[in-house]
Amino acid sequence: MAHYRVTLLPGDGIGPEIMAVAVDVLKRVGQQLEIQFEFHEALMGGASIDATGNPLPAETLETCRDSDAVLLAAIGGTKWDSLPNDQRPERGLLGLRAGLGLFANLRPAQILPQLVDASTLKREVVEGVDIMVVRELTGGIYFGQPRGIFATETGEKRGVNTMVYSESEIDRIGRVAFETARKRSKRLCSVDKSNVLEVSQLWRDRITQLSQEYPDVELSHLYVDNAAMQLLRYPKQFDTIVTGNLFGDILSDAAAMLTGSIGMLPSASLGASGPGVFEPVHGSAPDIAGQDKANPIAQVLSAAMMLRYGLNEPEAANRIEQAVLKVLDQGDRTGDIMSAGMNLLGCRAMGEAIVKALD
Ligand code: IPM
Ligand code: MG
Repeated sequence: MAHYRVTLLPGDGIGPEIMAVAVDVLKRVGQQLEIQFEFHEALMGGASIDATGNPLPAETLETCRDSDAVLLAAIGGTKWDSLPNDQRPERGLLGLRAGLGLFANLRPAQILPQLVDASTLKREVVEGVDIMVVRELTGGIYFGQPRGIFATETGEKRGVNTMVYSESEIDRIGRVAFETARKRSKRLCSVDKSNVLEVSQLWRDRITQLSQEYPDVELSHLYVDNAAMQLLRYPKQFDTIVTGNLFGDILSDAAAMLTGSIGMLPSASLGASGPGVFEPVHGSAPDIAGQDKANPIAQVLSAAMMLRYGLNEPEAANRIEQAVLKVLDQGDRTGDIMSAGMNLLGCRAMGEAIVKALD
């Protein structure tokens, strides 16, 4: 019997509710396929600030390092928004990414036929969209030095962040992207701002250089402003997109929204070795927390991504994904993806429906 240690980081807001659903789903699929999960829950984010004063206690990072994979829900909330930057829940997330060396973030945005009408864009624009954003996650302006708010000679304050990428950082994310594109439809679009930024010029040069090793993958380049426009204008032109940390943050939200609800989309963050972190693209939605209204599907699909990319259990991943499609086919919907004639379910009931669909 396969046995995995999985660290659970439920975090804040709707996090605990959607995590409970994902755990039920994992347990059920585990029973079916003889996979045993040993779950360890740990503190992170705002909940952790309240309990320990630290958004990512050393103990949590240790627990994560000792596991085969980490399943994260969501962190943050208005309650902690007024804290100084270095004490906010988000710092915990950045610390986790850095601490586990998770430089590659895979964010798929796929339009399910059942939900085409949930998109704010026209059916003919979004139908059939299937994009994978490969975002660099431990470099760029999120981590570059110097950073801070400094006083100038006149006493005026000046905020500073630095966008940096070294060749090796570009190459390793580039390789993940080319390999990912290879398993998909073999088209890779690299997004940068090389008409203005030197860091992007280097990015474009390295990605172009790397493409010689992947002659079967068709490489294109776009400036980030144009990429944002093209995502709305004609998203079907994209298959795999590779970009840096900040541009990837922005474009992955835009790509996610093509699908109608960010509540549907999972992500995987992977390093060169060690456990990956699997989490929904959406945030902690404090406005609906504790009301049994959240859509748990992104969390459930994150568990499926964990099985596929983190634990190498593709059969279990497939089963979960099929179960999600089945409940959508049945017409089950949470509020965020509700449309006329469908059955409106709460978070828990949606979870029960998915567990049932597994059988
Ligand atoms: C994301 C989030 C994070 C990011 C925040 C919460 C720090 O927006 O995962 O996309 O900017 O990376
Ligand atoms: Mg983001």
